[in-house]
Amino acid sequence: MDATPTTSTRGSWNSKIGFILAAAGSAVGLGNIWKFPFEVADGGGGAFVLIYLVCCFLLCFPVMVTEIAIGRRAHKNAVGAFEALGYRNWRFVGLLGVTSGVLILSFYNVVAAWALGYFVELAGGHFSIGSEFGTFITDVVKIGLYAALFMVLTAGIVSGGISSGIERASKLLMPTLLVIILGLVLYGLTLPHAAEGLRFYLIPDFSEVTLEVVYNALGQAFFSLSLGMGALITYGSYLSKRENIIESAALITLTDVGIAFTAGLLMFPLVAFLNAGDMTDVQGGAGLIFVTLPGAFESMGPGLGAFVGATFFLLLSFAALTSTVSLLEVPTSFVIDEFNVPRRRAAIGIAVLVFLIGIPSLLSNGASPFFTNFVTYFGSDTPNTFMDLVEHLSSDTFLPLGGFLIVVFAAYVWKTENLSEELAQGAPGFRGSALERFIHVCVAYVCPVLLGIIFVLTVLNRFFGVSVF
Ligand code: PHE
Repeated sequence: MDATPTTSTRGSWNSKIGFILAAAGSAVGLGNIWKFPFEVADGGGGAFVLIYLVCCFLLCFPVMVTEIAIGRRAHKNAVGAFEALGYRNWRFVGLLGVTSGVLILSFYNVVAAWALGYFVELAGGHFSIGSEFGTFITDVVKIGLYAALFMVLTAGIVSGGISSGIERASKLLMPTLLVIILGLVLYGLTLPHAAEGLRFYLIPDFSEVTLEVVYNALGQAFFSLSLGMGALITYGSYLSKRENIIESAALITLTDVGIAFTAGLLMFPLVAFLNAGDMTDVQGGAGLIFVTLPGAFESMGPGLGAFVGATFFLLLSFAALTSTVSLLEVPTSFVIDEFNVPRRRAAIGIAVLVFLIGIPSLLSNGASPFFTNFVTYFGSDTPNTFMDLVEHLSSDTFLPLGGFLIVVFAAYVWKTENLSEELAQGAPGFRGSALERFIHVCVAYVCPVLLGIIFVLTVLNRFFGVSVF
């Protein structure tokens, strides 16, 4: 069963590069520049990087291809897509995706607000902000205002529609981001002790690798590539039949991995510079950027430090913005398609709702003891904040689960034959190629098996404190 998509005024990308930049913009975000480097620091440096690369290319790339193909074939939002293909019962996968999008955006926007706040503080030469991070994030009014501003910017872009909102913003922000990050890396490499930083980053230390590192690498890969929640089903639904999906997905994956890798090249020389080459106890976690880096900027001297520091947090804010846009587009497109609500009204309404849902996250970094020590999982005695809980549930649990369900759907319900047919459009040599066989094997066997196993182990480990191995 397969419905023929109707032509509609849903909007579409104006150009191939527009789609790629928008999807890469969705992928490149806080995940690359804020999270990736500290996951590397916690996971044995280069060893984590290697495991991460395997996850991206072997497990995530096939999921990305599948999501885009489903979206383009169905020409519908993440929920409606399953129904348009003829499988109403599978709408729950899309609903899981829309829920994940709303939850992720609710806390992601708070971290984006920190980044925007740091841009303002460092532009004013306020370097001690690093040591005041704990107080800064409890200033609910200030962070609330930055968060509201960030949400307004996001909703403004999404309201503009696909080509004149999202595509236009991505075409402006992504090249700027690239120039800024490359400029900062080149500068960072000229600093004293850069080599020690690079050594820590690039030489694998396999003694630090545990199964938990593998779970983190997979979760991080899903989050960073914006997979498992239908963001790419949605973006794919605006894509023309002339475009080559595999080629586009390869470019998106390479850009995302490339920028995460480059962010490490930027971060570790700065940390080594600050610690005079001593990388023995690099602090991971949220603090790597928000606590450690301002010190490095301060050591550059007031004028230069303020400039480099502000530029860095501007980069982080831009990266976050193209991601919040895609996070908001998923529920927006769902509401537009399914309930016939005009785009502007849908985008603004959901943005307000998500902002409200984000308030407990905003309060959970010290301002409210209740939300700060919100929940303790089985088998552990350290409480997690509300924001941690939302993050663990949405990005670490729902995304890999969504990815697993999407490949199972594509392989065993929609069938690989239909997937191939869609992928062949815009890719003349695809049928019968080795690439086609690779995608089939991954989508039907490698991804479901490995994603399924890792998903169960992650949930047992994270929420129940059970380590099977
Ligand atoms: N990929 C984004 C990042 O790395 C986050 C994101 C996740 C965006 C899921 C959309 C969907 O920051």
